[in-house]
Amino acid sequence: MTFSIRHAVPSDHYQVVVNLDAWWGGRQMSDMLPRLFFTHFQPTTFVAEQDGQLAGFLAGFISQTDPATGYVHFIGVDPSRRGLGIGEALYGRFFDAARPAGCQRVHAVTSRINHGSIAFHRRIGFSVLPGDGNADGTAYTIGYDGPDRDCVRFEFDLRALQTGAECN
Ligand SMILES: CC(C)(COP(=O)(O)OP(=O)(O)OC[C@H]1O[C@@H](n2cnc3c(N)ncnc32)[C@H](O)[C@@H]1OP(=O)(O)O)[C@@H](O)C(=O)NCCC(=O)NCCS
Repeated sequence: MTFSIRHAVPSDHYQVVVNLDAWWGGRQMSDMLPRLFFTHFQPTTFVAEQDGQLAGFLAGFISQTDPATGYVHFIGVDPSRRGLGIGEALYGRFFDAARPAGCQRVHAVTSRINHGSIAFHRRIGFSVLPGDGNADGTAYTIGYDGPDRDCVRFEFDLRALQTGAECN
């Protein structure tokens, strides 16, 4: 079944945030996604729709500290619509926005217990950055986001994507 992706608008936030904890398997996540992403980061925040309904979203921005780095804060897909390529397509839209803006890489982090997210990011071409912890061969950073908040850090090389596109 087809889906479409568009830039987010502020009014999308409500529908996203009421679904967020359920989409993350009951984890308390909604406090970490304020409306500001849908207001002040519209060029790099996207919503996927299927049959006129919210199917997924990606909230990202270009680093103010390093404009060569794009950062994806959250990506989520409706559990009933997973495995259809929506998550990968959302990242594709973010890459398409970040590259012409001068980004050379995209960063993201995920909790070290989020094995689905780790597998997804690896599968679509992210590499895992070094950390001071390791679980089952996956490096993570201890206390990255505060006490007991260990995270796996990812990087996607946008320059490799460009070079690859030019290969036969
Ligand atoms: C992670 C998430 C966004 C993936 O969305 P999705 O639309 O199902 O992903 P896609 O269909 O685009 O999958 C792209 C590839 O990744 C793989 N993949 C996706 N989720 C996977 C998982 N949990 N385990 C292993 N592989 C996975 C797919 O099989 C596919 O590979 P293929 O082309 O070889 O089949 C979705 O599972 C989700 O919303 N999870 C909860 C929220 C979350 O943890 N977000 C990430 C942290 S911010």
